[in-house]
Amino acid sequence: MNEKLIIRGGKPLHGEVKVGGAKNAAVAVLPACILSDGVCVIDNLPDINDVSVLKRTLENLGAKIEQPNKHSLKIDCTTIDTATADFDIVRHVRASYYLLGALMSRFDVVKVMLPGGCAIGERPIDQHIKGFTAMGATVITEYGMLKATVPEGCLHGADIYLDCVSVGATINIMLAAVKANGVTTLVNAAKEPHVVDVANMLRMMGAKISGAGTDIIRIRGVEKLSGINYSIIPDQIETGTLMVAAAGTKGDVTITNVIPTHMEALSAKLMEMGIHIEEGESTIRVWADGHYKAAHIKTMPYPGFPTDLQQPVTVLLSVADGTSLIEENMFESRFKHINEIRRMGANVTINGRVAVVEGVEKLTGAPVRATDLRAGAALVIAGLMADGITEIDNVKYIDRGYDHIEEKFISLGADITRKEFPMTDDENDFDTFA
Ligand code: UD1
Repeated sequence: MNEKLIIRGGKPLHGEVKVGGAKNAAVAVLPACILSDGVCVIDNLPDINDVSVLKRTLENLGAKIEQPNKHSLKIDCTTIDTATADFDIVRHVRASYYLLGALMSRFDVVKVMLPGGCAIGERPIDQHIKGFTAMGATVITEYGMLKATVPEGCLHGADIYLDCVSVGATINIMLAAVKANGVTTLVNAAKEPHVVDVANMLRMMGAKISGAGTDIIRIRGVEKLSGINYSIIPDQIETGTLMVAAAGTKGDVTITNVIPTHMEALSAKLMEMGIHIEEGESTIRVWADGHYKAAHIKTMPYPGFPTDLQQPVTVLLSVADGTSLIEENMFESRFKHINEIRRMGANVTINGRVAVVEGVEKLTGAPVRATDLRAGAALVIAGLMADGITEIDNVKYIDRGYDHIEEKFISLGADITRKEFPMTDDENDFDTFA
């Protein structure tokens, strides 16, 4: 069965809503448990598909996992007895590449199915492989899988310069380095909050890591890492999605359990557009009267404007006064939502990496299709803002990264229902991870 979200738009969002744990931290923290020589209890996990796929993947490798509640897992990876992750489900989570970095600390030969994830561009992993190779591994592609061989039985520390700022490569190299022989220095590292979160978790286990959150991370390998209890950080992108939705529906919403400093780029941009933002210690209140100024956006690595919030903000800019320019510098295919919001009346043209958004008075409901995770979230916001009914197909993409997205919006007064529909032949043939 296929699921759709049916949204009756035009209702301002009001009230208080709590953000869940960060998807991008969760998908790294779970593979990081492989490095522990004890039992790890991970709390504040989002209840999303990517997490359940990684849970099942760890179990298939031999880990023992208990689930005390839907946001918590007790994970014992000491029982892992295979380093071949060739199960079909692995392909469905891009972050399964973290299994490679973590498993190399325990096995001489590691095989992981090539990553899937959202279809938002070419998404190479050459920088991960560059790092592993510098640390002594040999990485090849064999029968659709990445195969890493650790010749001496243990990786060694290395000086690694990343040719581009990559969150995935930074975390993966950290995972590979924490139990390697000697010191690894990672230059031009990503500084995203979830990079720091994974480093904090590893440090709690006993890893020697300094500089996480800066351009240069140093890791001194250790022999053993202990079990821990760890609670992951709030989701920066879910927070941003809620902030944009509050503004776009002319609402007044207080978002709780957030880290406001993680939201600086978005908060600054929304204020530039004339939206009101009030930050507390762990809360952000957003309210707007429906008049938005046009703005220009360039996506960049943290602390720049996050690519994951480009799509939601594009929707808001589509009803702003004047012309906005959006420059997408991270992923070349991240404008797929634009075809869909055009069906809702948005006036946007794309020229390579730049989208030119001419503000229109309003959006109107239409049947649309989520093409990737954040594009799907952007369409939910568009549906909430639009006059009439919006029907969003391919909800499975949204479920990859948002913990029951409609429930939080419904609690704020939105009119959303989730409905099952039979798959059409066309949808059955659809290559979800092309
Ligand atoms: C992560 C996030 C994703 C976010 C993205 C950028 C996770 C699970 N996902 O994705 O939500 O949109 O960061 O903030 O954390 N690149 C290379 N070679 C590599 C690696 C990356 O050229 O080996 C390029 C990519 O094509 C892209 C840029 O570097 O242009 C950033 O990619 P990266 O930070 O690695 O993104 P992900 O870790 O895949």
